[in-house]
Parts: sequence; structure tokens; C-alpha cells
Amino acid sequence: MIFDSTHYRIRRMGSPDFAAIGEICRQVYPHDAPYTNAELAAHNALYPEGQFVAEYLPTASVAGVHFTLRLRLSDFHIDDSWDVLTAHGSFTDHDPIHGHTLYGADVFVSPEHQHHGLAHALTDATRHLVVEQHLWRMVGGSRLPGYGKVAATVSPEQYLSEILAGTRTDPVLSAHLKDGWSVVKPIHGYLPHDSESNGWAAVIQWVNPACPPPPEFRLR
Ligand SMILES: CC(C)(COP(=O)(O)OP(=O)(O)OC[C@H]1O[C@@H](n2cnc3c(N)ncnc32)[C@H](O)[C@@H]1OP(=O)(O)O)[C@@H](O)C(=O)NCCC(=O)NCCS
Repeated sequence: MIFDSTHYRIRRMGSPDFAAIGEICRQVYPHDAPYTNAELAAHNALYPEGQFVAEYLPTASVAGVHFTLRLRLSDFHIDDSWDVLTAHGSFTDHDPIHGHTLYGADVFVSPEHQHHGLAHALTDATRHLVVEQHLWRMVGGSRLPGYGKVAATVSPEQYLSEILAGTRTDPVLSAHLKDGWSVVKPIHGYLPHDSESNGWAAVIQWVNPACPPPPEFRLR
């Protein structure tokens, strides 16, 4: 769906948004502890330009979010968990000097505002940040909430190839693909308590065509 700019706008997160974000978090991740006000305030203090909110204009309420931080991914492994990549949700590993990769730590949209192109618009905002800050790429871990139901008979690789071929859809990964991400590989244990995804996730990325890899990645 096309983003409706008469009803929604994308802007930076502010402290008046914290309570509503916690409430949406409880709805979309019922099995996880929601972000606390203190955590959101800490993220905003570390990297305010990377914390995005979609606002529903008629009620001036939060409809969705995209939270990011900058990482030097050579300090990590491809199959590191969300906990490792976010320093246990603190974002204190945000590296504004050497962090050439914008890591998409979270994107979620309130159920009542899903399918209105908000994740797409929020992802466009993070892509814009990558370009503006001359970063190499954006990387994330996509949940695979459709995988748990078929995990007994379908391998994660097969599941991903069917999603990519369009012969199967996943409620989250299919949306990310439409939003411009591409799949790198499946990993296990990214969100160990994500039983819907059977513990699996897909590493996804978007590479900034205008920015070459940082020097340590250049082929010699
Ligand atoms: C994944 C999520 C963020 C998508 O948000 P959204 O605002 O509804 O997504 P959009 O409206 O921008 O949809 C983007 C595209 O994906 C498609 N899409 C959206 N939901 C989909 C679904 N359930 N299955 C298949 N495709 C879907 C849309 O059709 C759209 O494509 P289009 O522009 O061609 O119509 C949202 O479902 C969500 O918050 N889920 C729960 C939290 C979560 O798991 N977050 C992801 C963490 S990795």
C-alpha cells in the first residue's frame, strides 16, 4: 500500500512517545518484555537521529517505529543474536566513528495501522539516513513467524528460497522484501524465544550504491 502522507508522518522519537511504544510492543511481541522508558531514553541519548516513529496525524499517536544503531560488523559474527548486536538491548555498542553499517534493531507497526505502508516508509527513512551519513549498508535480522508451523517438514533454506520465489509468504520477511531488503542467509538463535519462527531468522541487508565498503573490506 502507498504511504498516506495526509494521515501519517515519519519523524524522530521523543520522550512523549515512550508509553505508546511500550504499549504497541506488548501487542506485537506478547511474549517479550516491552522496552522501558529508561531504555528508550538511553537509545535516544546515544543516537537520536536513528530512532524513528510513524505518527498517525489525526490523533497525534504513535503507529510504528524503527530503531537503529551504527555497528562495525567486523567486530561481530554473522549469526550473532539480537542480544549481542544490541549489547542486551542497551545500544551502548553504537559506534558513531567506525560503525559503517546501520543495524536495524527493530521495526514494528501497531496492528491497527499495519498494511498502510508504514514499515515501508520507516525503512525508506532509515535508507535515507544511511545515504545522509555516508554509510556502507543497512543490516537486520528478520523474524520468520510463518516458519514455526512448517519447520517439521521444510528446512530454513527451502523456506527462504520459496519466500524469495514468491511461492510462499511470511508475515514479516515478505514485507521486508517488498520494503527493499535482500536476504543474506538463515541463522538460528537470533531471537531464541521466538517460537513462531522456531528460533530462526534471516539476515537481511540493503547496500548503499553510493558508498564503497570501508577500507578494511576492500579486496587487495
Ligand atoms: C512486519 C511489519 C513491521 C510490517 O509492517 P506494515 O506497516 O504492515 O508493512 P507495510 O504496510 O509497509 O508492507 C510492506 C509490504 O509488505 C507487504 N506485506 C505487509 N504485510 C504482509 C504480510 N503479512 N504478508 C505478506 N506481505 C505483507 C505489503 O503488501 C507491502 O507491500 P506493497 O507495498 O506492495 O503493498 C508488521 O507486520 C509488524 O509490526 N509485525 C510485528 C512485529 C515484527 O515482527 N516486526 C519485525 C521484526 S524483524
